[in-house]
Amino acid sequence: MEGFKLSSEHHTPVLLNEVLKLLEMRRLTTFVDGTLGAGGHAEAILKSHPEIQQFVGFDQDENALEIAKRTLLPFQEKCQFIHSNFGDMQLKLNEENIEGVDGILMDIGASSMQLDQAERGFSFQRTGPLDMRMDQSQAFTAKDLVNTYSEKELGEIFREGEERKWRACARAIVEARAVEPIETTEDLVKILRPMTWKKKGLDPLTLAFQSIRIAVNRELHQLERVIPQAISLLKPKGVLLVITFHRLEDRIVKQLFRQAGESTEVVEGKQQFIIEKTPEVEVLTRKPITGSEKEIEVNPRARSAKLRAVEKL
Ligand SMILES: C[S@@+](CC[C@H](N)C(=O)[O-])C[C@H]1O[C@@H](n2cnc3c(N)ncnc32)[C@H](O)[C@@H]1O
Repeated sequence: MEGFKLSSEHHTPVLLNEVLKLLEMRRLTTFVDGTLGAGGHAEAILKSHPEIQQFVGFDQDENALEIAKRTLLPFQEKCQFIHSNFGDMQLKLNEENIEGVDGILMDIGASSMQLDQAERGFSFQRTGPLDMRMDQSQAFTAKDLVNTYSEKELGEIFREGEERKWRACARAIVEARAVEPIETTEDLVKILRPMTWKKKGLDPLTLAFQSIRIAVNRELHQLERVIPQAISLLKPKGVLLVITFHRLEDRIVKQLFRQAGESTEVVEGKQQFIIEKTPEVEVLTRKPITGSEKEIEVNPRARSAKLRAVEKL
């Protein structure tokens, strides 16, 4: 963050220098931030690219949008704020008559603001209702998930989230809710604490809570939806930057970027066909960019962050 004084106190933007470096020397007229959060990345990008004329910020959390609006007050004439899932990016931008953009950033996952607010129910370190919705206008909560999903479905969610004791976690939830409904993060902590597996450096509850959060918000599904839309929205030489915090998310980004960069496509049917196609992008990051030791020391959130980027051909 050297050289930048950010007004956002709520959230330290992850891999900020690396994001700015990928945008350096590019002329950005229209830019989209798919995950505005507290507006930390947005503020730095607007400061370092005064040529930006139109900056569109998405967040599905209205609370985040309100905070970002305050952070971005000095740039308010250039900014548009959209309360929507980024999975609907193309539709929402078309509604604003925006057809091509020079850059898109997505910094996936929950923000530290969301994790820090006990009443949002994201954190195993704070007692609150079992909620975990990023979009509070959505009806389905973590409480609904843990109290209604079958043991098989729960097991699948924990297994996907790489919780090694996925079977035990699912079983423990089903047994506990047979006695009384699971209402709070504290209830869930008591149920899962003895079951969870300690992964080096992580609180054992991290993966179990993260798995539930990803399922409540259908995070992987929305990521799969948005990448092809974002690529098609880019103007030639436009860039798409995606930061992820979970191995499954990074795998989705890596695969979709690779597919978009390939000159052949395998079509599976009764027979397999290999068809020639025009690559849409050049992958700028063969390997993901990760945080420096220095950044991880001051911002532990950076520990699992991975940044990948493509440039539209
Ligand atoms: C890690 S924070 C972003 C922080 C931001 N880059 C900053 O510097 O302040 C992620 C934000 O993206 C939002 N978000 C996550 N998934 C989303 C989705 N599918 N659609 C829209 N917003 C999403 C969350 O509500 C959260 O506010």
